[in-house]
This record gives sequence, C-alpha cells and structure tokens, in this order.
Amino acid sequence: MSVFESSHPLVKHKVSLLRDNNISVKAFRELTKEISMLLTVEATQNLSIKNIPLTCWSGEISVPILADKQPTLVPILRAGLGMLEGSLSILPCAKISVVGIQRNEETLEPESYYENIISDIESRTAIIIDPMLATGGTALATIELLKASGCKTIIALFMVAAPEGIKLIHDAHPDVTLTIGAIDEKLNEQGYILPGLGDAGDKIFGTL
Ligand code: URA
Repeated sequence: MSVFESSHPLVKHKVSLLRDNNISVKAFRELTKEISMLLTVEATQNLSIKNIPLTCWSGEISVPILADKQPTLVPILRAGLGMLEGSLSILPCAKISVVGIQRNEETLEPESYYENIISDIESRTAIIIDPMLATGGTALATIELLKASGCKTIIALFMVAAPEGIKLIHDAHPDVTLTIGAIDEKLNEQGYILPGLGDAGDKIFGTL
C-alpha cells in the first residue's frame, strides 16, 4: 500500500504543536511551513537520479542529479496555499499547478471551479499539497483532474489524514502515493477529522 505516515520525530513533534487549540495564526503558519518542508523531503526520496560529468576543483568527476524535470506542486485552494512556501523551499524550481474544488450544491459532487495546470504535466511528477485529507472528495477530484490532463505520477502530501479519506483514495487510485504527517482516528458527522486540527484553512488564513 503506497500510504506513508511519517515516523520523523520532528514531524510528530510539530503536528502535535499544531493541535493546540490556543495556537496563534503565526505559529500555525510557521509549523505548517516546517512540516511541509519535512514531508516534501520524505515524499521525494524516490525521485530518479542520473549521473553527469562535472568539472570540480579537483578535476573531472561524475555526479548524481535529478534525472527528470522537477515536479509540479499542486496546492488545492485555499488551504493548500499554506503549504506552498515550505514545499517550494525544498523544490525551488518546481512549477506550480493550482486547483480549486468545491461541492456542487445540486449534485453534492466535488467539481473544479479553477484549474491552472502546467502544460507539460505529462512529463512531471505532480505533488498535491493540502493540509487535511478528510472525506477525500477534494483530493479524489484533483487526482482525476490531473490524470485527465495527462499526469502519470502523483504524490499527495497531507499534514493530517483520516482513515476514511485514505481508503477512498487508495481504493480508487492505488498508484498514487500518499505521504502523511499523522493518520488520525476518524471523521465526525460534519466531516472534520478527530482529533484533527479544526479548520486548517481558517487557521492559516486567520479567518476563524
Ligand atoms: N478540513 C479541515 O480543515 N479540517 C478538517 O478536519 C477536515 C477538513
């Protein structure tokens, strides 16, 4: 199963700090950035490398570099924007593809209201970033949008995820790798993760 819960002590520590109900907007943003950096490192550990010749101070050597184009980061509006700075600090050359998904009030199905996906998506790994994987509807719609645009390799990063959302994504798209800061217990009736973080978007944007 391509679902990885980080075992990094710093991720565990920082996700625990995020859960404090009295956390300030500043601290929530800073921790989100730091966790995004750590998860991006973990999520990119299997990127392919190739060797190229290089002239260094001591002469000609062969050095490993990334074999493929840098991934495209895919923040899901709006909360995913909070993870962008941290992920970009690890992948500074990454292209950015932005996706906005909302629920259609008639069909109740998630649908895209904004998409700006890079043109060469078929030759890049897409790394979806969203703080929370709850029911999984938004992530599922994003994955389907990326695949329909020609994307072949997808990784998704979440700071906190619920088992319900993980199951939805894994059952529908077992080829997609999920890298998660913490897998929590369950969803409540309103679709919030328990124990969770509350509304991560509101905490990042200060709109509580
Ligand atoms: N989105 C959030 O921000 N929090 C949840 O618990 C679920 C979805």
